[in-house]
Amino acid sequence: MKNPENQLLVIFGASGDLTRRKLIPSLFELCARGLLPDKFVVLGASRTAYTDDEYRQMQRKSILAIEKGKPYSARQVDDFLHRVQYITFDSTRSEEYGKLKDRIRKIEKDEGIPDRVIYYLSTPPLMYELIPRYLEENGLNKPFGRSGWRRIIIEKPFGTDLHSARELNRYLCSVFDEKGIYRIDHFLGKETVQNVLVLRFSNGIFEPLWNRNYIDSVVISAAETLGVENRGKYYEGAGALRDMIQNHLMQLTAFVAMEAPATFDPESIRDEIVKVFRAVRPYQAEEIDKNIVRGQYTGHTVKGKPVPGYRKEKDVSPDSTVETYVAMRLHIDNWRWGGVPFYLYTGKQLARKQSEIVINFKATPIHLFSGQCPGGSCNQLTLGISPDESISLKFGLKLPGAGFVVKQVSMDFRYDSLSDNYLPDAYERLLLDAMLGDSTLYARSDALEVSWSVIDPIVQHWKSELEHNLHFYPAGTSGPQAAQALLGMRYDCICH
Ligand code: BG6
Repeated sequence: MKNPENQLLVIFGASGDLTRRKLIPSLFELCARGLLPDKFVVLGASRTAYTDDEYRQMQRKSILAIEKGKPYSARQVDDFLHRVQYITFDSTRSEEYGKLKDRIRKIEKDEGIPDRVIYYLSTPPLMYELIPRYLEENGLNKPFGRSGWRRIIIEKPFGTDLHSARELNRYLCSVFDEKGIYRIDHFLGKETVQNVLVLRFSNGIFEPLWNRNYIDSVVISAAETLGVENRGKYYEGAGALRDMIQNHLMQLTAFVAMEAPATFDPESIRDEIVKVFRAVRPYQAEEIDKNIVRGQYTGHTVKGKPVPGYRKEKDVSPDSTVETYVAMRLHIDNWRWGGVPFYLYTGKQLARKQSEIVINFKATPIHLFSGQCPGGSCNQLTLGISPDESISLKFGLKLPGAGFVVKQVSMDFRYDSLSDNYLPDAYERLLLDAMLGDSTLYARSDALEVSWSVIDPIVQHWKSELEHNLHFYPAGTSGPQAAQALLGMRYDCICH
């Protein structure tokens, strides 16, 4: 594995939650594992006034809190923090960018870093256009001289519908080269998600079965036990469909459904992802209620503690019709998947946290044995994404004793049995890739636009129906009853 070239990373929104919880701890991990370049500086930029040292002390606490229990020494934390600097900076004011420019030049000169800069926008989405505009106005979107490069990493949500995503893409591509734009979907940084590709394309035994002839249905889920926490304001404008399905679950769908890329380079892989999205059957308004269930959690007692309903959460309207749960059936109308339903579901305040991909294989044509396999098929492959990072293959075996009674048994593999129990956080992998200039695990503009075109008609339909099709479910349960009818058997297998 090669290390990235020497470079500077500027984080906008450096005093925020994402920086504290994910970016700084991930950068520290990379540093401790010797994966950062020799010459590398993180420059935090945000409005709150800190000196370099105050900012470092603050980030030291973040690192110690997140890395608790891991075998790192104080010396390693100090070594990393030496690479961290801070600038008090108001990104909403164009005139401040001159100050940023001077600081970048100074760091490059003092540290001997060639002119290579990544900007990370860890800010509210309304800054996604403004910051690039001011970077451009102040000559910060291109290298100062003839060599060097500029890259930009943008967090989700990338737009709120097809129109806004297109506008944002159009604007960003006018300021940065598409190759330098990294649209993050942190699910793609999860080891278990990348392993979907490896499992499929490095093993000859699965691929022959991976199609409509042998697969009955696919279930892709991301169930969460948390509510919207203190993100009510954002969530009111998003809902589960835009927060989780449009990006994370659609990307997982693409990894499961795509054809083998010609080569393992970013563009070949991303070409295949787009082809899957293009094959997703769009729903007419009248088909939406039959194929998609949306829900919202209500107050309930969970593990002996009262949990407020969504409408009682901070910054949420008391008569909000925003969904905190979605279950949907998708059809991928191509040669490989025609007729195989893909069920996607996600929700907040559910009974347990579990993200997984379940491949349900068809039953044998004739049932020779009586048995205990759900739905008559004994074969199921489950790829656990989190928190159970695992793969399990189910098949039928004879129960000992008289007769031939079949029981479903399972062969299980856990990722933590590999490589000294270390599974890097998604942000570690994604940050490293952006530093290396590898965009394989980042969303490309065309894929984003196609995925929005699947989601937009659903959002429009819901807007016109409002409360009519909103199903309520008590916090801490498996979601709305109506979802069970849609997900049917598969729901029972997975959720209970
Ligand atoms: C984020 C969503 O993208 O993913 C959150 O905005 C969600 O609402 C989170 O909780 C889930 O990610 P993970 O990695 O915790 O499963």
